Amino acid sequence: MPENDSPAVESILDRIFTLELVRVAESAAVAAARLRGKGDEMAADQVAVDAMRTELNKLDIKGRVVIGEGERDEAPMLYIGEEVGTRNGPEVDIALDPLEGTTICAKNLPNSLAVIAIAERGNLLYAPDVYMEKIAIGPGYPAGTINIEATVKENLEAVAKAKGVDISQVTTCILDRPRHAKLIEEVRNTGAAIRLIGDGDVAGIIHTTDPVETGIDIYLGSGGAPEGVLAAAALRCIGGQMQGKLLLDTAEKRARAAKMGVEDPDRVYTAEDMAKGDVLFAATGVTDGNMLAGVKFGKNEITTETIVMRSSSRTVREIKARHQNIEKFD
Ligand code: FBP
Repeated sequence: MPENDSPAVESILDRIFTLELVRVAESAAVAAARLRGKGDEMAADQVAVDAMRTELNKLDIKGRVVIGEGERDEAPMLYIGEEVGTRNGPEVDIALDPLEGTTICAKNLPNSLAVIAIAERGNLLYAPDVYMEKIAIGPGYPAGTINIEATVKENLEAVAKAKGVDISQVTTCILDRPRHAKLIEEVRNTGAAIRLIGDGDVAGIIHTTDPVETGIDIYLGSGGAPEGVLAAAALRCIGGQMQGKLLLDTAEKRARAAKMGVEDPDRVYTAEDMAKGDVLFAATGVTDGNMLAGVKFGKNEITTETIVMRSSSRTVREIKARHQNIEKFD
């Protein structure tokens, strides 16, 4: 037994946590969904944070938030470094986003999620709140199909070749942002298609893992680095390839990253670098999406859809839950 009485590595993410994690994600999603389409991003985020924190604190873990709502001085709850759980259990690190896609939830657009990942202590990248350049594809491609240092054309050609289709049949998911104008033009010049999304690149990256269902083959572009770690955790479980590069374009950002342990500002991180070892990941739909339906409120019942997966077993479970004791979400 290690000094801190933690259970053996193999059992740290014990099977029981799978369902516990589902409950945590569900609680945040239900809370946020009550404010879906109400135009108040901050309120929706806040209720999701409160609900997720309450559920997390019921878990028998010595949990530490490594990807959370921000630095301690800017986020009163689920801030980076916050200790969560009952303190009776294994030491784990947690990456979370109680409401990924606050704007899409406020506007009731597709694919906002409540997201959480959990790994053994020290196994999730401490990502500063900066942008990360990202490229991702789903499972089934030969290793090395994508390369963040290669051109857009080279990457899209490689995906098309590996998939056995013409490049015009490859669909790229990109966040609709002015900073992506050049990227969008480069993709268009190859003849590939683009799915522009308003927000939510964790979902965008996860969608590459099921192109038949989602119509997305590859994710390209920059988004939040914390979201990059969450997406990497998901791909570790479901399969696929991802690379990310922190965009540290100012001395202030480089200093902030260095303080969080980033030694090489130009480093290319793979999914395995961002989320190591055994990882558990859960996401519950808040609004309806390509892979998960959003929360449904019936007269006496609330329905949720959650995807929960574990890297060591590569098990992906889709859990549709009908909650009849709806008071538990009050
Ligand atoms: P929030 O949930 O914090 O609103 O983030 C949504 C999101 O679209 C992420 O999925 C993405 O990584 C990031 O914002 C992109 O940032 P920006 O809106 O600055 O382009």
